[in-house]
This record gives sequence, C-alpha cells and structure tokens, in this order.
Amino acid sequence: MPALRLEPTLPAPHLPVIDLAAGDSKTVGRTGHADITVDDPSLSRLHARLSVDTNGRLTVDDLGSTNGVFVNGAEQVRAALRPGDMVRFGQVEYLVSTQDTSRETDPVADEAFAGHTIVRRVAVSAAPKVDRIALEALLATSRELMAFSDLPALLDRVLERLDSIAKPDRAAILLVDAATGALVPRAVRPSGAYSSVSEFASSTVVRQALTSRDVFIVHDIKMDPRLQQAASVLAAGVHSVICVPLFGRAGPIGALYADKLGLEQFAPELAEYAAAFAGHAAAALETAQLYDDRERHFRATLEAFAKAIDARDHYTAGHSERVTAYTLVLARTLGKPPAELEIIRRAGMLHDIGKVGVPDAVLLKAGPLDPDERKAIERHVTIGHGMLESLPFLTDALPAVRGHHERWDGKGYPDKLAGTDIHPHARLMGVADSYVAMTSARPYRSALPVEEAARRLRADSGRQFDPAAIEIFDAMEERFAALREGPEAIAARAELLRPIA
Ligand SMILES: [Fe+2]
Repeated sequence: MPALRLEPTLPAPHLPVIDLAAGDSKTVGRTGHADITVDDPSLSRLHARLSVDTNGRLTVDDLGSTNGVFVNGAEQVRAALRPGDMVRFGQVEYLVSTQDTSRETDPVADEAFAGHTIVRRVAVSAAPKVDRIALEALLATSRELMAFSDLPALLDRVLERLDSIAKPDRAAILLVDAATGALVPRAVRPSGAYSSVSEFASSTVVRQALTSRDVFIVHDIKMDPRLQQAASVLAAGVHSVICVPLFGRAGPIGALYADKLGLEQFAPELAEYAAAFAGHAAAALETAQLYDDRERHFRATLEAFAKAIDARDHYTAGHSERVTAYTLVLARTLGKPPAELEIIRRAGMLHDIGKVGVPDAVLLKAGPLDPDERKAIERHVTIGHGMLESLPFLTDALPAVRGHHERWDGKGYPDKLAGTDIHPHARLMGVADSYVAMTSARPYRSALPVEEAARRLRADSGRQFDPAAIEIFDAMEERFAALREGPEAIAARAELLRPIA
C-alpha cells in the first residue's frame, strides 16, 4: 500500500514534508511536544492529529487550535483526507498525495529518523517546482497586457494566457458592472460554455475569492462541503476550480474563473502563478475599462448629438434609429457576426451626423432645392466623415457614414463609387435609409404606404440599390413593415439598437 505524504504547498526549508504509513497517529504542532514540528507562529503548540487507519484512510483532527484546521479552504474539526486535498494548519498549507517511499529509501535518513518517522529531511526533489512554460507565459503576459487599450481584445488575450498557464476546460472573466455593481461575465471560453452566472462554480467560489482577496482553488469539488449545494457545477461535471480575484486601485473589479472537468486537477503551484498573473491582468483590465467607459460615454454623447440633429427637422425625428434598426435587420439576415453588427449599429446611429453642418435654411426648406442647396445637403456625408475620422473607435463605421448615398450605378455621392466598390455596410444602409425616407412624412408629401416603398426599392434594384441587398429586403419585407409603427415596433427597434458587443 502506498504511503501518504503531505507536502507544503509553499516550499520553505523549515517546513517538514510529512510521510505517514498505515497505523500512524501523529500530532502536529509548533513545539517539540508534537510528533511533527511545524515551526510557524500561526500553529498552536499542539495543533492537530493526523491518523491513518489500517486500511490507509487518513483523518485529521483539530486539537483545539487557535487558528483552525482547513481542508480545501473549509474549516474542519475532523475530516477525512484524500490525495489531492489541501489541508491547512493555521497559515501553513499542505497537499496530500500518495507516495511510494520504497524507491526513495535512504538508509541513513531512515536510521536517523527511526522512531520519528514522520519528519523527513527536505529532499532535493521537494525544491520549488518551477514550471518554465508557465513562468514564461506570465512574463510575456506582463509585458504585453499593458499595451492593450481595447477591452474586448484584452479580455480575449487574458483568457488566452490563462489557458496557457492553467489549461482549464472552461474559463471566464467576470467584471464588476460600474452601473449596477453586479458581476457580469464579459468573456467566456469556449464560447457558450456557461449559460448563466450561477454556473461559475456557484457564486460561492467567486464571492469567496473576492472576500478573501486571495486565489481560491478547489482541487476536488466533491470533497468541499461549501460546493455541495452547487447543483449546476456538479451537474456539469466540474472537478477542480480556480478563481482569482481582480483588484484595481479602488477595490474589486472582477475575477478570473477557470475549471476542469473530468478527473484532472489544477496543479498546486498554479495558485502562485495565478495570483501574479491576476495582478497584471487587473491593472491592464482596469486601464482598458477606463478607456472603454470613456469611449462609451463619448459615443453616447455623439449619438445624443445625432438624435438632436434628427430632431432639428421634426419630420425626420428618430430617423437615425430607424435606419440603424432596418440596416441591422438586413445585416443579421446575412449572418453578420456580432462585432460587425456593432460596427453597423454605430455607423447607423451617426450616419447623418454631418447634417449639423448643413444650414437650417437648406435642411428645413419645404420646397424644391436648387443645385447649390442640393450640394449643401450632399455635403453632410463628407462633413460627418470628417467629424468622426479621428476617433479610433469609429474607424470601422466610417465607410457607411461616408458611403450611404452612393448608388449601385455609380451616380451617387460623394465619391461616385459603383457596384461592389461601395462598402457592403453602405449598400445595406442605402436600402434602409431610402425605405425610412419613403415611409416617413415630408413637408411636401405624406408618408408612402409600405407596399409602395417596397415596390420602388425593387424597381431601383441594380440602379440605385445592390440587387443582393434588395433580395434580402424581399425576404424581410414583412419584418420591415412590422418595425414601422406602434408600441410593439418601438420595443422591437429598441431591442435591435442595444449595443451588441
Ligand atoms: Fe444621409
């Protein structure tokens, strides 16, 4: 039968490795009165007893210690210990493992410790384990993370690094939402791995990590009484969990979470790497979040500004929101990914922002426009482009802002692009913009019926509009009509307009 070994999780020369055989019953304490001396001020003189029965089952009993005995993070008066468990006496933590000592027999050591078989000299093999790959990943991470100012890209990279360090089956970054204070999963791997926040090994794990401000690691979830209630975790087959709290300058900003399914466990030394990694990740995430918040506020201001411009001419109030909603319907039908939908959403909300530079006398004129007035109106696309082009978070939205009045036949403005030279977003937006314009009332005419607007769009397929975009419109015509007016249409448009990524 293999012997049992307890090794300190943090290597220190003065901490003994503890070997136990069947039938052993040894006390652990700070002084020589104990069978095993663990020289650390957090231990009581007689702290605990370790007993192995004749079947090799190991039990730990707290002998009334001041700082307690903890098994896998939970305080215990008496508990069974199995390989893989972490047992902590005061502040000193040990990992339980099985050990075939026959191969390591050292006659000198055995003689010296005869009758006192528990305490071993610290063998060379017990020196700190340094995982070179993990360490290199950590160093690389610290160098690169601070270079990110884009939050989604940074979240992705942090998960990638966590992956190389911890090799989890699933991982996530939860960040504190500044508005609500709630923890929200912001990035998950593999995508869709968790369907709700409660699946993050129950909120117990995350709460514990944040409260203790320390890495929370559970090697075997079935042995941890705190997680027995986490039905979703057990159902998912989670075996081992690590949760690393992330602290910024003003307090908690979130947590990194990872788990392993099946029988594999996280390596004990991972806690150290994870703690160091979290320091870098937290600093980078806090900075990126500040950038992100700043961008979001800036975009919100711009969008409010664009709405105000819509409202200058009350006939087109809500115009940008409608154009955005319809363009998104087309883009979703095409199966565009979320990141691209967000680009389209931003472009749609700001596509006519350049109208701020068009004089009221022209913009609000009820009668027909002369050529100069028409040119003044047309300038809104280049004015809008000029207003937004220096903003890095809107770069991808620029082609649609500039190009939404180009025509498939090359007779549009401002660049007289034709066919597929026109950006795909601009081609979709052109259809949506015309539909909204036709189905809205104007000073000189009332709104066209939706059927008539649809007929005119089809009639201009291949002239003003990309035939492929009109084909998608054909498929979505009823949806367009349903989004036009009424309380349900308003709610559906609002749903479409929510920030996507
Ligand atoms: Fe426009």
